[in-house]
Amino acid sequence: MEQTETPFFDALVAYWHKGVVPYHTPGHKQGRGAPRRLRETVGNPIFALDLSELEAPALDDDPEEVLHRAQRLASQAFGSDYTFFLTNGTTEGIHAMLMATLHPGEQVILARNVHRSVVAGLVLSGAAPIYVEPSFHPQLAIPTGLTPESVHNALAANPKVRAMLITYPSYYGLASDLGSTIHQASEHGVVVLVDEAHGPHLHFHPALPPSAMDLGADASAQSAHKLLGSFSGSSFLHIRERRISIRRVKTALRLIGSTSPSFLLLASLDCTRQQMALEGEQLLERTLALAQRARSAINAIPGLYCPGQEIVGSDGVAAYDPTKILVSVGGLGWTGAAAERYLRRNCGLQCELSDALNLLFLITIGDDDETVDRLVEGLRRLAAVPPPAEVRRTLANLRHLLGEQRPQVPPLRLLPREAVFAPQRPVPLQNSVGEICAEVLAPYPPGVPVICPGEEITAEAVEYLRAVKRAGISIPGAEDHRLETVKVVNG
Ligand SMILES: Cc1ncc(COP(=O)(O)O)c(C=O)c1O
Repeated sequence: MEQTETPFFDALVAYWHKGVVPYHTPGHKQGRGAPRRLRETVGNPIFALDLSELEAPALDDDPEEVLHRAQRLASQAFGSDYTFFLTNGTTEGIHAMLMATLHPGEQVILARNVHRSVVAGLVLSGAAPIYVEPSFHPQLAIPTGLTPESVHNALAANPKVRAMLITYPSYYGLASDLGSTIHQASEHGVVVLVDEAHGPHLHFHPALPPSAMDLGADASAQSAHKLLGSFSGSSFLHIRERRISIRRVKTALRLIGSTSPSFLLLASLDCTRQQMALEGEQLLERTLALAQRARSAINAIPGLYCPGQEIVGSDGVAAYDPTKILVSVGGLGWTGAAAERYLRRNCGLQCELSDALNLLFLITIGDDDETVDRLVEGLRRLAAVPPPAEVRRTLANLRHLLGEQRPQVPPLRLLPREAVFAPQRPVPLQNSVGEICAEVLAPYPPGVPVICPGEEITAEAVEYLRAVKRAGISIPGAEDHRLETVKVVNG
């Protein structure tokens, strides 16, 4: 097989070009029945390629076989033993990795700031989490990764642990020492699963941190749609067969996946793999040069700071992804959220995320000189505007809260799965001490949970959450986002 091939995409195009009259789903019948506004905006071909598993026999080649060939090509390109195409994002990959690796009650080590899809994966698998606090970067006020020491301590203290799930790199592009984690874990016979949502490009350029597969992880899920060119929701799940059963992965994917996965998304993964295998290094070379130009220009604007190579060596940071442009605006007196609003309303620029002090911009293979110039120009304008007094007050509150001692990880009283499916009731926050929490309470910023499902609500955690409320920080995903009440296990 050659990386120039795109077997899955070709099979869809061949079916369309044959002009077969489709008496099968989807009901839009290659676009003819699609809502006119939608069709006129997105065009017809996208509907012609929009098939799913139900009409699979309509393709000349067995679609399972073409999908299998496309996935084999991806596994060669990414250096895995087996690669699955996913249509429900890295979320689906994380759920499948956890379900395929852990039996109910088995232990998994995780950083406390894992993505919420991981907490959902704990519920689905019935696994028992052992949370480890990540390190923090004091100047940027963001969580970084686990240090080799914290991995060592967690493994030494939990001899029965079966797996670790590591986020690598972080949303901000900071990469912990995954090589050391894998080495330590394998000495204990512990499986290493990687949430590599933000690393689908890593394997294709030597100036980027090595990918999880390059480092010998057992499994990794990558959001191709986040940083490569495929459609939203499309991800790769890479497996190294040594300690993971492919049969269990397939079973998990069947349990959680649709019986009608979008072939459009699968085809976009096939083409993305071909693009990266053939041109990835060259495209990323250009991307890295653009990002470097942006970084230098931003750092020349007084009051702004865009971290570069010097961040490597901070606690929990062994490497970084230079395509992530993290811009600290706190030095200007802006909060990240207010700066985000300013840039959107006044400059027509939308960042990927904002937090207390920072904005994150992604430079990908889709950027060019013009988008970099627009970004730098927008930030120059921002830096020239004094932040409103109210923004300065919010910033002071945020700094105060972020400087406070975070509460200890509370004791786990029930498995997350037991807590989430137990009868529940809301209780006022101030009366909740001693109850078992049934939801995730993760103030953003900094996005690190204070309490997770199954954990006892401690007095220290309530005190911290009350400070969060006073600072006006939001709790995304909480049942009562004003935090008047929290959802606890009944009885
Ligand atoms: C660290 C991390 N893991 C997992 C996910 C889930 O990825 P997806 O949106 O592809 O399901 C995200 C999404 O933002 C994420 O940031």
